[in-house]
Amino acid sequence: MKPWLASGLLMSGSALLLRLHVTVKLRAIMELDSACSSEQLACHYKYRSISSLPSHLDSILRLYTYSVAMAGSVESFLKLCCLFCLVATSSGQLSPAFYSRTCPTLQTIVSLTMRTTVLLDPRMGASLLRLFFHDCFVNGCDASVLLDDTATFTGEKNAGPNANSLRGFDVIDTIKTAVELLCPGTVSCADILALAARDGVALLGGPSWTVALGRRDATTASQSAANSNLPGPGSSLSQLIAAFAAKGLNARDMTALSGAHTIGQARCVNFRSHIYNDANVDAGFASQRQRNCPSSGGDNNLAPLDVQTPNTFDNAYFRNLIAFRGLLHSDQELFNNGTQDALVQQYSTNAGAFAADFAAAMVRMGNISPLTGSSGEIRSACRRPWRFLWKASSNSAASSASWLLQGGSCRLRSTVGRAQLCRLS
Ligand code: HEM
Repeated sequence: MKPWLASGLLMSGSALLLRLHVTVKLRAIMELDSACSSEQLACHYKYRSISSLPSHLDSILRLYTYSVAMAGSVESFLKLCCLFCLVATSSGQLSPAFYSRTCPTLQTIVSLTMRTTVLLDPRMGASLLRLFFHDCFVNGCDASVLLDDTATFTGEKNAGPNANSLRGFDVIDTIKTAVELLCPGTVSCADILALAARDGVALLGGPSWTVALGRRDATTASQSAANSNLPGPGSSLSQLIAAFAAKGLNARDMTALSGAHTIGQARCVNFRSHIYNDANVDAGFASQRQRNCPSSGGDNNLAPLDVQTPNTFDNAYFRNLIAFRGLLHSDQELFNNGTQDALVQQYSTNAGAFAADFAAAMVRMGNISPLTGSSGEIRSACRRPWRFLWKASSNSAASSASWLLQGGSCRLRSTVGRAQLCRLS
């Protein structure tokens, strides 16, 4: 048998199996649908409870729609082949080329937005870097940190380390809006955050690195995990090492990544105890900081984490530590007669070594427990999980491949073949 004929038969067989699978799943949806027309959110979660339904729904619907629309032609086989390839490559490991065909302009959109943003507000480069760290350390780099509270979960934004502190959500929203216009339903918020963090560092003079892509977005968030997994500014060296080890990062990664404190600001509440109570602080530095951070009150008064060059990503942070001018107790722990002293010394005199280690550690941090393949989802707006309601089209003239997605205040979003996708507000 000719190879093209064999692959054609294989594909049409797969398409038939797929139709069968979709029919079974959609029948289950429609049975549930009659029971939950008013309480949309509850419906969504009921739908999610159907065995293996949500994970492949998007891909299955796209394939199914296309298979019906194109069945019978040679072209359909080729297109189906491409679609199967797309689905196949959408699972598994992260890859820098993940969106090269599906959203080739992604990195340009992120880069242009970040250039404008950092030009107007240099601190935003620091804030987005921290946002990425706080995402990755809480159940992996899955954009859970971006989610607002919902009826079913309390988000991470108001966890102790994040409340009144995290910045940059609006920048991610701006990028996401632009990306959705050009590549709807394709790029995860988690990947946008990873790219924005990288660009922020580079724009402030730091190293750049290749970001592997293909992360998907969490459908939920955990305030308790945010409270327990993120190290606090009062941490000891052993606590810092343990917190990073719990995420698969070693002490060298931890020290290199702490060099992120070469940019950005901290609030008085987070460094008060260090500048008033600790012995390992330069006296002149302590009194300089005390001027804007009283022993009580002024909790939100800001000070630069790097007293020398707060808007430049360089190795001055490590030179500060050697001069006992670290702002946080946890910063100074890295140079306090402990195991990281030698590395701090090295980074303080070798900016290149710090830049290379920081970039490599950022790649490792960005690989913490990503959702890939069919796990999670691609949000359409980064602050909210998708909430789907799928319903058979009432238009009998439409083919069985036509589906209408609807909800309480459904806003038409896009069309895939003859399927319409709406978003619940
Ligand atoms: C080693 C453990 C770490 C601790 C204890 C820690 C703690 C803190 C604290 C308390 C602040 C100030 C927040 C505020 O006052 O509102 C801060 C700011 C910051 N952190 Fe960390 N951090 C750590 C590691 C990291 C890592 C790994 C990164 C990134 C790779 C990072 C990036 C930043 C940045 C850029 C800022 C400034 C943010 C801004 O100006 O908006 N930190 N950190």
